[in-house]
Amino acid sequence: MSRIKRFMVISCWIAIGAFVAWSFFKVQNTSAQATTEGDAALPVAKIVVPKDKAIYKWDTLVNYEIVVSDRGKSTKYQEIPSNEVLLKTMYIPDLSRAHVNSPPPAPESSGLTDIMRSNCLGCHEFKSRAMGPSFAVIAKRYPDTASTIDTLSQHIREGSAGAWGQAQMPPHADLTAKDLHDISFWIMKHAADPDINYYVGTEGSFSMKAPVTPGPGAGILLTASYTRPDAEIPGQQIVHGEDTIVVEGK
Ligand code: HEC
Repeated sequence: MSRIKRFMVISCWIAIGAFVAWSFFKVQNTSAQATTEGDAALPVAKIVVPKDKAIYKWDTLVNYEIVVSDRGKSTKYQEIPSNEVLLKTMYIPDLSRAHVNSPPPAPESSGLTDIMRSNCLGCHEFKSRAMGPSFAVIAKRYPDTASTIDTLSQHIREGSAGAWGQAQMPPHADLTAKDLHDISFWIMKHAADPDINYYVGTEGSFSMKAPVTPGPGAGILLTASYTRPDAEIPGQQIVHGEDTIVVEGK
């Protein structure tokens, strides 16, 4: 090998080495930023009101406000629709023993996201009766079996009448078999949990409600979350942002 050739081969290897080191550093750097600063890579959800560790009376309604931003868009300017934002409240019997910041809770199952994105919440609430029965009371009426999930899926798709009263549910022909299954599954597994409630929208009020007589140190864990819509494409990673705080009851 001539001197020139040898020189070129060595320089090539140095360049490759430098590039690999640089990309490794860059990847490390971006993922650190994405989780702490929330740059364009991940949606950022922030509970603006109430403040973390604020204290409220039990059995009152407390106002909340959430701001979500994602890829330069924000709920502040209605670029992200308010009904894509979920507030989940969870009763915690003893806040001093709750490990609220670690690990981060998993994103809500796709069944709940499907409920938020369809028209269900125009007629149903999670815990109380609206025009239709609450999802909690539906979950309590039927045994948690595969055949219940099939039956509910069929009733949502074809519409339902007579099972709960005079009002009728219209059909939902737009939902896929997977959506219907995920929704019915979510209702049966999660809707009746007495410690948890759900509120959709960037602002509103949640209830400081305890499922049992609360002791000192009990409170509510609030989790605001947003799932980027195009994560629903099969094979795509679920892109999710969330924020968690606690409020104390008195
Ligand atoms: C226009 C109002 C309306 C909309 C929109 C609506 N529902 Fe209903 N839903 C009802 C009513 C009313 C009933 C009770 C029907 C009955 O008595 O059989 C009901 C019943 C149900 C039931 C119980 C069925 C059973 O067999 O007991 C489920 C589950 C349900 N709805 C889920 C959903 C889901 C999921 C969506 C959104 C995809 C949705 N509903 C949209 C009004 C609505």
